[in-house]
Amino acid sequence: MRDSGLRVEPSQVLVTNGGKQAVYQSFATLLDPGDEVLLPTPYWTTYPEAIALAGGVSVEVLADETQHYLVSVDQLEAARTERTKALLFCSPSNPTGSVYSPEQVAEIGRWAVEHGIWVVTDEIYEHLTYGDAVARSIAVATPELADTCVVLNGVAKTYAMTGWRVGWMLGPADVIKAATNLQSHLTSNVCNIAQRAAVAARVG
Ligand SMILES: Cc1ncc(COP(=O)(O)O)c(C=O)c1O
Repeated sequence: MRDSGLRVEPSQVLVTNGGKQAVYQSFATLLDPGDEVLLPTPYWTTYPEAIALAGGVSVEVLADETQHYLVSVDQLEAARTERTKALLFCSPSNPTGSVYSPEQVAEIGRWAVEHGIWVVTDEIYEHLTYGDAVARSIAVATPELADTCVVLNGVAKTYAMTGWRVGWMLGPADVIKAATNLQSHLTSNVCNIAQRAAVAARVG
């Protein structure tokens, strides 16, 4: 992708009705009932609901202001169990605005690879950084995550196009295929006019 530096094949892309559908479909595709998802807290309110709708269990990992709302690998490791299936990662974060440094992103990515934990990374705020903050995609920082990472994004924040309802998920071809099958029965394709508008926003 032009923006994050990630290279993917067409079979690894699914255009969704906003980033929110990408969040839901990622968990619906990845989780079995009872699977645990590590959820850095404070979090965007949709995450635990999407996890619960998919039969998963959110495991909150609190990062407060004393640690700039950034979870550490030690905290993630302490929360990991045999049922841990995935980590929800959101940097830059809604609601805290915190941005993990490229080094922190790579460290968390390596930890996930080491333990075979999926990373669902919501990068919808990647272009809204200020000062010295650098938003690094965990999929780029840790190429070894290629088979166990789903990247979520959309036009809502970068182009202020929330109402157009265009998002996307990138991931391994089999995950994208499963999510495509699900979406085909849920909502089918995204409105063609909205997709054209998203292309125009990107090129413009
Ligand atoms: C962190 C985060 N991810 C995803 C979304 C989904 O955005 P949309 O469904 O409008 O594309 C939002 C919207 O507020 C958000 O804050």
